[in-house]
Amino acid sequence: MGECWKIVGGRPLFGRVRVPAAKNSVLPLMAASLMCQGESQFSSVPDLLDVRTSMEIYQTLGGQCSYQSGRLRLSFRQKEGRGCMPRHLAGAMRSSVFYLAPALHRFGRVETIQPGGCNLGPRPIDIHLDGLVQMGAQMEWQQDVLVLTAPRGLRGTEFVLRLPSVGATETLMMAAAKAKGETILRGVAREPEVVDLAQYLNQCGANIEGAGSSVLKIRGVSELTGCSYQPIPDRITATTLAATVASAGGHVTLEQCPAYLMEPALNVLQQAGCGIKVREDCIQVERVGTLKGVGRLYTGVYPGFPTDAAPVIAAALLTAKGQSAIEDTIFEQRFSACAREFAKMGANVQCEGRVIQMQGVPELRGATMTAADLRGGAALVVAALASKEESCIDGLGHIRRGYKDLPGILQALGAKIQLQQLPDEEAVG
Ligand code: UD1
Repeated sequence: MGECWKIVGGRPLFGRVRVPAAKNSVLPLMAASLMCQGESQFSSVPDLLDVRTSMEIYQTLGGQCSYQSGRLRLSFRQKEGRGCMPRHLAGAMRSSVFYLAPALHRFGRVETIQPGGCNLGPRPIDIHLDGLVQMGAQMEWQQDVLVLTAPRGLRGTEFVLRLPSVGATETLMMAAAKAKGETILRGVAREPEVVDLAQYLNQCGANIEGAGSSVLKIRGVSELTGCSYQPIPDRITATTLAATVASAGGHVTLEQCPAYLMEPALNVLQQAGCGIKVREDCIQVERVGTLKGVGRLYTGVYPGFPTDAAPVIAAALLTAKGQSAIEDTIFEQRFSACAREFAKMGANVQCEGRVIQMQGVPELRGATMTAADLRGGAALVVAALASKEESCIDGLGHIRRGYKDLPGILQALGAKIQLQQLPDEEAVG
């Protein structure tokens, strides 16, 4: 039996929402804790499908973890293991790749398949692998199974990333944290989630300098303890909620979310005519009149406009008066799936290659739509909240990978959104 969310939009949203910890911080932190001797605890962790998948990987590798009321506890006592990641878990999300370096340190080997995740175009892991090999790992593909071994451990090196990949920066930071000697990584990603991982590892006893800049200097240590850590708030969830207000209208306060994390997205919403007020630890987002088009935007690495925010912001701009366009410089097919679904609502939207173009229409129709990836799926919810007619969104598994109880949050703000079971023949995705 499939499920869908039925949404009737066109009613403004009011209230306050506490922003949970960032999925993109929590997932690498969980994997990193595999390298620690003691227990690690993470708080305000949302109960997401990806978090559950990562817990399963952790347990399969031999670790213990528990999750209760947002508190995640992880510890690892087992000494031996073969570091085998089950196919169905490795293939379920891109973030399974974060276990490569920790498993190499823990077991001297790791066995997995190419990680899964959203289909946004090609997503190779060559930088992760090149870096690990330069640090002494031996790599072998046995058909589609990747086997990495480092029986004598990893050693420090100097490595230049050919592009500032967030995931590769995190993999190599974890690898270097317990490698023998010093590692210099140049051209690394500067995203807040990278800084968060460095802070956690340093709190566990690592010696990482330069996080937030383009060069990391890491002196390997032989042992890491665990620690209690509060990951940063989820800037993409916060941006999605801000986009729902831009789309539906209303006035919502995003609590526990410092504005510096999401300045580029807030700037775009402000340019489109939303009222944004920044308080110490919260952001107020308001939309009263009609939005206006923002011209052409480009996504970029931090501190640029984030690729993950692009679909939800595009959705809010479907009813903005005038033209908007977003070019995603990171992924080749960021918009193709969601643009097709936007068109079903009567949006005037074109997607060519990496670019989505929107000529705002005054009203959107209700439509039956399918989420095909995480952020593109959330964007369908944002769009549906603009329409007074009923929409139905299925493919919810994609959205639930990154958002905990989106209907519950939106209902509390006054939205009309309900979960409905679909008879089998209607179920899609
Ligand atoms: C992370 C985020 C994801 C976000 C992305 C870009 C997590 C868990 N996920 O993903 O939500 O959309 O950053 O901000 O943090 N690339 C290569 N070779 C590599 C690695 C990456 O060519 O070895 C390419 C990718 O194909 C992509 C680009 O680099 O085109 C950016 O990818 P990357 O920064 O690695 O993104 P992720 O870490 O996968």
